[in-house]
Amino acid sequence: MYIETFGCQMNELDSELVCGQLRALGYGFTARRDDADVILYNTCSVREHAEQKVWSRLGELTERKVREPGLVVGVLGCLAERDGEALLRRMPVVDLLVGPGELDKLPGLLDNAVRTRGSMLSGDAADEHNKPRSAGLSALQGNTSRRSGTLAAAADTLEMLDLSRAVSPVEDGGPVSRSAYVRITRGCNKFCTYCVVPFTRGAEVHRPPEHIIDECKRLAQAGVIEITLLGQTVNHYRFEHGAAVTIGGVVQPQKGRSYTGGHRRDPFAGANVTTFADLMQRIHDEVPEVRRLRFVTSYPRDFGDDVLEVIRDHPRLCRYLHVPAQSGSNRLLGMMNRGYTVEEYTEFLDRARAFLDQPEIGRPLEVSGDFIIGFPTETEEDFEATMALVRKARYKNAFIFKYSPRPGTVAYDKIPDDVPEEVKRRRNSALLALQQAVSEEVAAGYVGREVDVFVTGLSIKERKRRARAVAAGGVSLTVKGRSVGEPEEDDGCGSGCSTQATHVETAQEPSSGIAQYSARTDGDMIVVFDAPEHAGLVGSIRRVRIEESSAFSLRGKLV
Ligand code: 5AD
Ligand code: SF4
Repeated sequence: MYIETFGCQMNELDSELVCGQLRALGYGFTARRDDADVILYNTCSVREHAEQKVWSRLGELTERKVREPGLVVGVLGCLAERDGEALLRRMPVVDLLVGPGELDKLPGLLDNAVRTRGSMLSGDAADEHNKPRSAGLSALQGNTSRRSGTLAAAADTLEMLDLSRAVSPVEDGGPVSRSAYVRITRGCNKFCTYCVVPFTRGAEVHRPPEHIIDECKRLAQAGVIEITLLGQTVNHYRFEHGAAVTIGGVVQPQKGRSYTGGHRRDPFAGANVTTFADLMQRIHDEVPEVRRLRFVTSYPRDFGDDVLEVIRDHPRLCRYLHVPAQSGSNRLLGMMNRGYTVEEYTEFLDRARAFLDQPEIGRPLEVSGDFIIGFPTETEEDFEATMALVRKARYKNAFIFKYSPRPGTVAYDKIPDDVPEEVKRRRNSALLALQQAVSEEVAAGYVGREVDVFVTGLSIKERKRRARAVAAGGVSLTVKGRSVGEPEEDDGCGSGCSTQATHVETAQEPSSGIAQYSARTDGDMIVVFDAPEHAGLVGSIRRVRIEESSAFSLRGKLV
């Protein structure tokens, strides 16, 4: 079996969970698509670019499927959910569709697909495309989604997927598994007018804190020292114990609260409620082996002072916030249904910096953002307002996307995509250039300072160098794998559209000489440094003195 993941960290985690479950059922994985008899694509439809990659991958399989009718092809994730059975008509090569809210059903469907393949090979069940005639190899939320409130009446089986996470101990020198993602919420209730996520991932549900803490403990016992909490609006987390429903001995996830943020503190916090601040404090205190706890992605309006205080007062909580602004124009923020003004956003940034930006004790706060350029009706004036926000916000980096109309969203249906492509391109380049200048300035502030870094693996440069050396010796080696959470290889789309195979080999620590390593500060700045090989560095936290900087990374020396 081969699985390739497109899109965000949430998809990476979904793929990891799915692989663990399938492995436990006896499926084996290969890093080479050509060797696999089952191919799964875990897809993203947040922007057109990510979607195009999936279409082209599927197109590449058409010929092979004719040659090998027994090949099973599955599309998982947001694209499957959005297009549903229409996807099967457009791409007859696909046998199996599973939306992100139904991944717990994958093993059953896959078993069915593999069995049908058996009978198909014997020639009694294939249609003209050599596809199994058995209908129904799909699990999609559709209209009967988990958003309907049926949670109170039926066990949330998707929660079982997270609960059944297979955690393997970190092997000696194993480079990847000291860093892990843990989901705390699923779905989103915000309905920004450009965004497909509320439709593909469904309504927001919050996982019970006990489940989250147990998962963190199991990961820590296995050797994980860095955990990233995941949610589409992660800081909106809130669990009411009094209202918890238990089915079959399992506490069920809870629907997102109906009121939205804007609060300085949760007015109902108390013994019966676990807020996001409480959750972080509990993980910090109850899982001390976790030396770094971070979270993505935050919604600007949901940051109470309680969250900022918890980060300030707990040394193992990272001082890094990823808080998309999307635009600097109040008119466009309104059209996007973002629920805040640019003044409220900058007030939040000032407040966060007042609490957390302490470079004098070696703990600066770093912030990153997302922006959409060319949202319908965007004028030069709106764009200038976005440029002004980027100048003011001083992000360490920002993910900048050209607006892409997404079928099914309000903007797609109601607001014509009227900003010409060349205008989008020009504004995109101008904003990128400005952010690059800001990133250079932020990075330059580190030169001469000492910082603690989490060593994620060999640097991309080093891995490419090694791959070239191996290839020159006649053996091919993939450099697609990256250490979990390592942003270095991102193609500039941040939480958006980096693509990688989940189960390719990650480069092991080298065997002789000096190598270049990649690492991250607790503010998520990328640091590269040279060190002797086999120093057992990967997966550890080390102190580095920064000597040089660029917009994209810092260069330092181990101290
Ligand atoms: N077009 C362009 N960018 C989008 N994003 C989400 N939807 C769209 C869209 N339709 C961006 C937002 C979000 C990030 C994950 O992707 O900036 O924060
Ligand atoms: Fe999409 Fe984020 Fe808005 Fe939710 S908050 S609808 S995930 S952009």
